Amino acid sequence: MNKRTSLTQYLVEKQRNDNALPAELRLLIEIVSRACKTISHAVSKGALGEVLGSLETENVQGEVQKKLDVISNSVLLEANEWGGHLAAMASEEMETIHLIPNRYPKGEYLLLFDPLDGSSNIDVNVSIGTIFSVLKAPTDSSGREIAESDFLQAGCSQVAAGYAIYGPQTMLVLTVGDGVVGFTLDREMGSWVLTHNNITIPADTKEFAINMSNMRHWAPPVKRYVDECLAGKTGTRGKDFNMRWVASMVTDIHRLLMRGGIFLYPWDAREPNKPGKLRLMYEANPMSMLVEQASGMATNGYDRILEVKPSNLHERVSVVIGSKNEVARVTQYHHEAK
Ligand code: AHG
Ligand code: MN
Ligand code: MN
Repeated sequence: MNKRTSLTQYLVEKQRNDNALPAELRLLIEIVSRACKTISHAVSKGALGEVLGSLETENVQGEVQKKLDVISNSVLLEANEWGGHLAAMASEEMETIHLIPNRYPKGEYLLLFDPLDGSSNIDVNVSIGTIFSVLKAPTDSSGREIAESDFLQAGCSQVAAGYAIYGPQTMLVLTVGDGVVGFTLDREMGSWVLTHNNITIPADTKEFAINMSNMRHWAPPVKRYVDECLAGKTGTRGKDFNMRWVASMVTDIHRLLMRGGIFLYPWDAREPNKPGKLRLMYEANPMSMLVEQASGMATNGYDRILEVKPSNLHERVSVVIGSKNEVARVTQYHHEAK
């Protein structure tokens, strides 16, 4: 049998050889990945584990919470409180930040997560995931209580990002800033095994992902891009495109990391005062870091997402992400329409 590399081994070697990974960050990634195993287990039980369905509560975004949104949030909070690696956490499911209780030691990292992405797919047995982003607490925060403003750093300050996808296989896709790797969960052994080394997105693609039902609400540059894709071989693009939309960002991004593609969730006129549907800090930023690390590109239509300076924890953003040449084209269409 070929020698298998576990996540632990991968991280230890990275820490030892490249000196690229501080011990505390290694611990953080191990703990998050362990929490994702627990979530994966709950997800796979479905109705048998009584984890399907909604609660009567709403989150800060005004979305009805699913049972699994709340379970996953608690699993991540509990797993990450005691290790001494974190200063605080933030989540899609919590209005404000979660400080590490005083009974535990504190570390220098900030962890942000979308505990369960793709909630609308939970009850229909379609792939869903967990997204996470890691920042460092600002140096001037040592010795005082962490505040929400300490989290408001641009995405290019992330020191690690990743997601777990709960699909036909459970996988963990990770970057610590030197490329993207993927691990598959070996359920019998209970360990993450390195299966995807150096994940790279091809610059060109014939596959796009967007919620087409919103077409009538889009801005002209988005409409122009999608119209040209739909025109196919005989149109200006001179090739046929294929369309996919899972409605779990994790799954749509996983597809484009595996075989290329472009994913758009643009601003639209349904809620003109919001820049888009997806959240900057725990959806768009980690995915943009992964995609850039895999040679792709990510913009809000105009600028690099990773350079957007957030002004609040739950800020939203327009997302154009994936194969470099297609994202560059959509971005150019936005600039031309200015
Ligand atoms: P969440 O389940 O964390 O609220 O995120 C759902 C997001 C994202 O995963 C997906 O790309 C998008 O919402 C789907 O939106 P539509 O309902 O417009 O398809
Ligand atoms: Mn989400
Ligand atoms: Mn979510």
